[in-house]
Amino acid sequence: MSVDLPVIDLGAYLRSGGKEGSDACAAVARSFEEVGIALVRDPRLPENIPRRFVGLMERYFAQPEAVKQPDCRAEIGYQVGWTPSFIERPRVRPEVVAKLAPEHRPKPVLTADPKERFFASLGKKPPTTKFDWLNPDPVMPQAFPEWYDVTGAWSTNMIRTVYTLLEMAARGFGERADLFTTFLEYGPHLLAPTGSDLSKYGAPDTVLAGFHDDLNFVTAHTQSNYPGLRAWTRTGESFFAKVPDGCILVQAGQQLEYVTGGAILCGLHEVLAVEAAQEKMRSEIANGRVPWRISSTLFAHATSDATLLPVGRFATDEAHSKYPSILAGDQVAKELEAIELVRN
Ligand SMILES: [Fe+2]
Repeated sequence: MSVDLPVIDLGAYLRSGGKEGSDACAAVARSFEEVGIALVRDPRLPENIPRRFVGLMERYFAQPEAVKQPDCRAEIGYQVGWTPSFIERPRVRPEVVAKLAPEHRPKPVLTADPKERFFASLGKKPPTTKFDWLNPDPVMPQAFPEWYDVTGAWSTNMIRTVYTLLEMAARGFGERADLFTTFLEYGPHLLAPTGSDLSKYGAPDTVLAGFHDDLNFVTAHTQSNYPGLRAWTRTGESFFAKVPDGCILVQAGQQLEYVTGGAILCGLHEVLAVEAAQEKMRSEIANGRVPWRISSTLFAHATSDATLLPVGRFATDEAHSKYPSILAGDQVAKELEAIELVRN
């Protein structure tokens, strides 16, 4: 099935310094409410940055495991640096799957995810925190002198779009512009590209990242170099997300659901190897290259020491009882244990 997400242009809002663009703000709020996703065109996004970033990550993931191993920080739940394949295991969620129509059910999660990932930390470090381990120093891979330039340019662009979009969402809900962004000030945001070796895991319907939602505030993506991101609407329809050139897809995570008391639900998704990727994959292999599927993902996080609770118009008695206040760092720690990145 195809869900045609409208592309929301941020241009008018940006050009007018937030004075215009109220239709676009309403569209952002509606899209988050109905689908848990907003697909936006940000005229500030330079064309070449996504390509340079994907190219860098292809070369990074293509290195032998022994070269990537020193970049691994298992002792802090892989919250920075490299995560090998078959570490993260999504929760099994039979109660959610049972409610979906058969054609909209996800592929069963039978193993931990074959995808690898790199977490590059960005954002301001909090002046003090109870959660030092969630706010670690960045890892710098040895072989790439251009690492900081490319990842820095990428993350600066993506986080800027996320801020604008969350301001617009707040306005679209009739709230002050910083209702959501105030949570993000010292968030341990992560540039979080994943790499999946399609020469090993490229057969159609192979699960690269099993059915899950994201534990952070929102997740931003541009187009990946291979298709395969399947997302669900709040009414349980699944669709393969297409991100046109120059656009950014932003999906709600658990923390945005929390602060809106469930008015926005965090978006469920999975990543699969798909039929549509086979031709490109085969031609890469025929040309002696390993086909890596690279996602251009950024996780925007609430400040670890911020208290998550429904705010503004979402702060109803019902929402407070369903979403009792919790420190973001505690919520993240609980989730990391559930998905086996932290093992006690
Ligand atoms: Fe995800």
